[in-house]
Amino acid sequence: MAGRVLITRPIPEPAPTLIAGVADRVVASSEDRPLSVEELRDRVGGFDAVLCMLHDPVDASVLVAAGGCKVFANMAVGFNNIDVAEATRLGILVTNTPGVLTEATADLAWALILAVSRRVADGDREMRAGRFPGWGPNYMLGGDVTGRTLGLVGPGRIATAVAERAVGFKMPLVYSGRRESPALDALGARRVELDALLAGSDFVSLHVPLTAETTHLIDARALGLMKPTAYLINTARGPVVDEAALVRVLKSGGIAGAGLDVYEREPAMADGLADCENAVLLPHLGSATFQTRSNMSRIAAENVIAVLEGRRPPNLVNPDAWRGALPG
Ligand code: GLV
Ligand code: GLV
Repeated sequence: MAGRVLITRPIPEPAPTLIAGVADRVVASSEDRPLSVEELRDRVGGFDAVLCMLHDPVDASVLVAAGGCKVFANMAVGFNNIDVAEATRLGILVTNTPGVLTEATADLAWALILAVSRRVADGDREMRAGRFPGWGPNYMLGGDVTGRTLGLVGPGRIATAVAERAVGFKMPLVYSGRRESPALDALGARRVELDALLAGSDFVSLHVPLTAETTHLIDARALGLMKPTAYLINTARGPVVDEAALVRVLKSGGIAGAGLDVYEREPAMADGLADCENAVLLPHLGSATFQTRSNMSRIAAENVIAVLEGRRPPNLVNPDAWRGALPG
């Protein structure tokens, strides 16, 4: 069985070629921008599979408009943009691209850890603005990395990859999460309650998926538990942090700084955040390497093709929808 596939934005190879080799028809949006929910609703009808992006709001109305569509394959590890419960109810499969972006995202978390503590971004601004007065004993001092405690919120693959890199920096490791992580335990990490992690860490790095439970997990109260010398790193999802509260804490010196790759209302950011010199601000680049995006494209295509061929997709996030799809 072949089928019709919609790709919601121009993406790197190999997905377009792989899918074209199997499907009867591939429609790829030619506009390099996110589609609005209205545009998605207008365009999703009549396809067997939709390959979508993390910014596509695949809500109930889009899923209903997609009619007989069998799968929404998100080209991302996160799938908070999709109403998975509604998809499952409608018997629509949802897939993601785990694993292939773990190392790139961990690398970027480390770029932020080093950049914010050692003042890489504001130092670069000093040079470009011609403000470098010459070496000074008190000039642009930052925080230490080596030997400082790293707290990982969430015990998943990306947290583990960040922890592996921390071994070279001789950092004591703690993590929080509902489950023990044998991989983190093997690196010498200690599982603690979130409050203890916030109070005891010099770097707090977020690695939880965005759910109702993790929305504003890091709020004013949580930020208030952090040491004034500590740094917050977010490469997960913006809404995990109350961004307005973070701006207040950055401005009042409640924490030393923040390294952010994600924002509550991307592409916008909270009022005042851009003025915080103690924040390093990146435009959602966690998985943005040529090789990683190509791997994500391939995995998304493999999920689409499996469904078109009547096989269970390798990265199914709602197995109940698959059981529902079985005859009898
Ligand atoms: C990136 O943010 C992803 O979820 O893949
Ligand atoms: C995502 O890949 C995670 O488990 O952190």
